[in-house]
Amino acid sequence: MVIYKGKDYKDVSRKAANIMSAQIIMNPRSVLGLATGSTPVGMYQQLIEWYKKGDLDFSKITTVNLDEYKGLSPDNDQSYRYFMDQNLLNHINIEKSHTYVPNGMDEDSERACKEYDKIISMVGGIDMQLLGIGGNGHIGFNEPGVAFEKETHCVNLTESTIKANARFFKSIDDVPKQAYTMGIKNIMSAKKILLIATGSSKAKAIYDSLYGPITPNVPASILQLHPDVTIVADEDALQLL
Ligand code: PGA
Repeated sequence: MVIYKGKDYKDVSRKAANIMSAQIIMNPRSVLGLATGSTPVGMYQQLIEWYKKGDLDFSKITTVNLDEYKGLSPDNDQSYRYFMDQNLLNHINIEKSHTYVPNGMDEDSERACKEYDKIISMVGGIDMQLLGIGGNGHIGFNEPGVAFEKETHCVNLTESTIKANARFFKSIDDVPKQAYTMGIKNIMSAKKILLIATGSSKAKAIYDSLYGPITPNVPASILQLHPDVTIVADEDALQLL
């Protein structure tokens, strides 16, 4: 495991974008596992900037996102498909048909999740998976208590995650209560993992994930067993290390 300390959000975003860029340059056909949330936005902006300068080519890249709210359509501005389009995919030369997000509109959870697992194996697995981390140690929507052996599955969001995400919705009642998420098994199968975290609200989750026992109560703690994890975080997120 390698840990890079960034000065602030901008520095973390640039360092993380450098690592993702290296992956893209070394393997232009990479399958990138992407993430939503506020943390990766700066990194995506940096990638767009470098693409516009002519330094990056996404034409042969495939992306698979970690998760999607159940019940939100791709054109709903709170869906993760919409987020990805707005924050990255619409601004680079990627084939849209090579970008995947779980199908939140499929009400049949089992079918939707199986289909997503099939997509991940069809594209050949994930070369580099980007992760944020929740204040409770969740990765994707794998909340505390999740079984480590799960692949894509439907989850009931915890109160703390619903509260954390309410800032993006008109009211807390509008936050969907369920989501489809890659499981820990999908994430752990990625060849490389890049986790980014900023702010003191992530400090305990980072500490527990890196130094605490490996337990489903802190889903990110499983990353201690992954052979190729890079963490980029600011001083606030690393303050307990
Ligand atoms: P954030 O979310 O980037 O908005 O803090 C991270 C997460 O919950 O995984």
